[in-house]
Amino acid sequence: MTEELEQVREIQKAFEQEFERFADLSVDGIAIGDAEATLREIGELKIKHTGKKSAIAGAMKLIGKVAPEERGNFGQFVQSVEKEIASKIETAQSKLNDVISKAKIERERLDVTIPGRRPRTGHLHLITILRQKIEDVFVSMGYAIEDDREIETDYYNFDALNIPEGHPARESQDTFYTTEGFALRSQTSTVQIRAMERRGVPIRIIAPGKVFRRDTPDMTHVPMFHQIEGLCVDKGITMAHLKGTITEWVHRMFGEKTVTRMRPSYFPFTEPSAEFDYSCFKCGSTGIFEGERCRPCKGSGWIELGGSGMVHPNVLRACGVDPAVYSGFAFGFGLERMCALMYSLDDIRLMFDNDVRFLEQFK
Ligand code: DAH
Repeated sequence: MTEELEQVREIQKAFEQEFERFADLSVDGIAIGDAEATLREIGELKIKHTGKKSAIAGAMKLIGKVAPEERGNFGQFVQSVEKEIASKIETAQSKLNDVISKAKIERERLDVTIPGRRPRTGHLHLITILRQKIEDVFVSMGYAIEDDREIETDYYNFDALNIPEGHPARESQDTFYTTEGFALRSQTSTVQIRAMERRGVPIRIIAPGKVFRRDTPDMTHVPMFHQIEGLCVDKGITMAHLKGTITEWVHRMFGEKTVTRMRPSYFPFTEPSAEFDYSCFKCGSTGIFEGERCRPCKGSGWIELGGSGMVHPNVLRACGVDPAVYSGFAFGFGLERMCALMYSLDDIRLMFDNDVRFLEQFK
């Protein structure tokens, strides 16, 4: 039996030698990657030293070979060696598994008490705010709001508005063209035609929207800007109605004391035509503000608002309306310039730079 005992001791020794570096395994501060690698190595040792083909499993077969009176003791010894190997491996494995799972929990820890990131609430663009304010005034006067396309044919942008080909008015409203013969509308006056065609007369509408011109951007020009068009056609409509409507609107926008004036002008789609101004909201039409030349009105006391006039008979005819029975007025103005004056902006491009630090000032 000494021989067999010796064999088992050898097996024990061989294991201890290989396992030595894991025997007093310190896991303090071990990196998770290293712990995992060590665990894999130990896994391999386990197969080698406790598996079916391991030396100790082989030693079990020796039990039957020793003399019957020594068999009990020998058997116990082999089993105790086997147990010891298994328990040493087990201890090292569980140490490593502990640190690995602690590290994982730590890594995935979620502090539910940290305050969330508050979403930034958006707000309307200042042009939209102004547009809605103007829409409210006109809706209260019985006007409908008309929305229409931004890509137009020459016919709606010019011809139907009494601007035939070769007319000099086309020049100042040069716009962007598509290769299919369409153009980005250069004025919201196009909606006069579309609305009369669609709704017939009598009609009272305003048409806010984007318009486009072939302009190089600078402090007072951008190639895309916003206009509001107004149209009122009925029996017996006169220029007095136009003046009254503009006056009412300006009163509601800038206060009861605001005065309007009209200057004779020319637009192909109106006859007679007038440009309208209103008394400056800043200096009360004196031209002087806090002892200095008033900025919005440049010291004149008046601010230009837009164009207007009595709808030209040719325009009515183009929409199938009899000018002998119906008459009407129309007007149109830009929103950017009005916005710039109201908020003392030097440069209208600021409105389209999308810089929230600027835009947030106007909620
Ligand atoms: N469409 C003109 C422009 O873009 C503005 C305008 C003037 C509109 C007179 C009108 C009008 O309806 O009657 O400059």
